[in-house]
Amino acid sequence: MRITVCLTDNRPDAWIEGLRAALPEAMVENWRPGAPQADHAVVWAPPQEFIDDQPALRGIFNIGAGVDALLKLKLPPEAQVVRLDDAGMSVQMAEYVCHALIRHFREFDIYEADARESRWSFRKPREREDFAVGVMGLGVLGERVAKAVAQFEFPVNGWSRSPKAIGGLRCFAGEAEFDDFLGASRVLVNLLPLTEATRGILNRENLSRLNGGEPGGYLINVGRGAHLVEADLIPLLDSGRLAGATLDVFEVEPLPAEHPFWRHPKITVTPHGSARTVREASIAQIAGKIRAVELGEPIAGVVGRERGY
Ligand SMILES: NC(=O)c1ccc[n+]([C@@H]2O[C@H](COP(=O)([O-])OP(=O)(O)OC[C@H]3O[C@@H](n4cnc5c(N)ncnc54)[C@H](OP(=O)(O)O)[C@@H]3O)[C@@H](O)[C@H]2O)c1
Repeated sequence: MRITVCLTDNRPDAWIEGLRAALPEAMVENWRPGAPQADHAVVWAPPQEFIDDQPALRGIFNIGAGVDALLKLKLPPEAQVVRLDDAGMSVQMAEYVCHALIRHFREFDIYEADARESRWSFRKPREREDFAVGVMGLGVLGERVAKAVAQFEFPVNGWSRSPKAIGGLRCFAGEAEFDDFLGASRVLVNLLPLTEATRGILNRENLSRLNGGEPGGYLINVGRGAHLVEADLIPLLDSGRLAGATLDVFEVEPLPAEHPFWRHPKITVTPHGSARTVREASIAQIAGKIRAVELGEPIAGVVGRERGY
């Protein structure tokens, strides 16, 4: 069995070494144009040239959960596209979202500003019942995040494509229940995959529906930058419609230095680091799946190409 590795923006050496150790029966090599045809590929944001050069691939294993960049390519029709299932990401996502939520709810940004002025100023506690959290996407990451938020006794709503019943959550599904989900949520957490159905879903109209249409909604975007219509956000913040936003992902990354999001007082920017791929856990998972595929066994995390995630 031959495995080719093509990782844009990632150093391949440790991945190759790890895959060789986990799959000693396989020939694992870094891709170069004209390399022998491989059975499986381990990839991150590969160029179309790579795909065109490897038409015999049976499995394409993405070293992240989101496959939007991969599905933009013209892939071999028979190849199975496989995303990473958690592999250490969901706990990071849960801590990131809980931190952003609690920082906003407990007004830590105001205390930080007070501390810079040596000002001892106590703020009236807010009621968590008034801060219902809506999690868009109840997949591997969204469900973990929703359950972590529920631990802090915030009311939690979840929205997915297919109906779900998850203990401790009020679940909404599909377009028909989307407006009710938004209206019932004050803090919106985006953990949807980027597909044609979800691109631009964080827009003026939808964000204005938060919190029963009253001002004070808050956005945490950890999905993809293109979920947010960036031009809509600052007017919503400046008019007070939204109280703030924590953003980890952007239309253009790295976020250009001149982008107004960097300097807006109600926006917290982080550099797409809310849940990083954990190399060892990912190698173990991918190696296990490759072995299962070779034995003809079913695996989790196979991407539905037509649905886009
Ligand atoms: N910022 C970061 O560092 C970072 C790191 C990792 C991942 N991510 C992003 O997080 C996303 C989610 O990851 P995941 O592993 O949780 O994905 P996942 O397991 O595929 O779950 C996706 C969820 O979104 C729902 N969904 C998809 N399309 C929908 C639609 N049109 N309407 C309503 N719900 C819809 C799905 O509904 P069903 O359950 O009904 O199918 C599912 O619950 C990734 O795609 C990636 O873009 C970001």
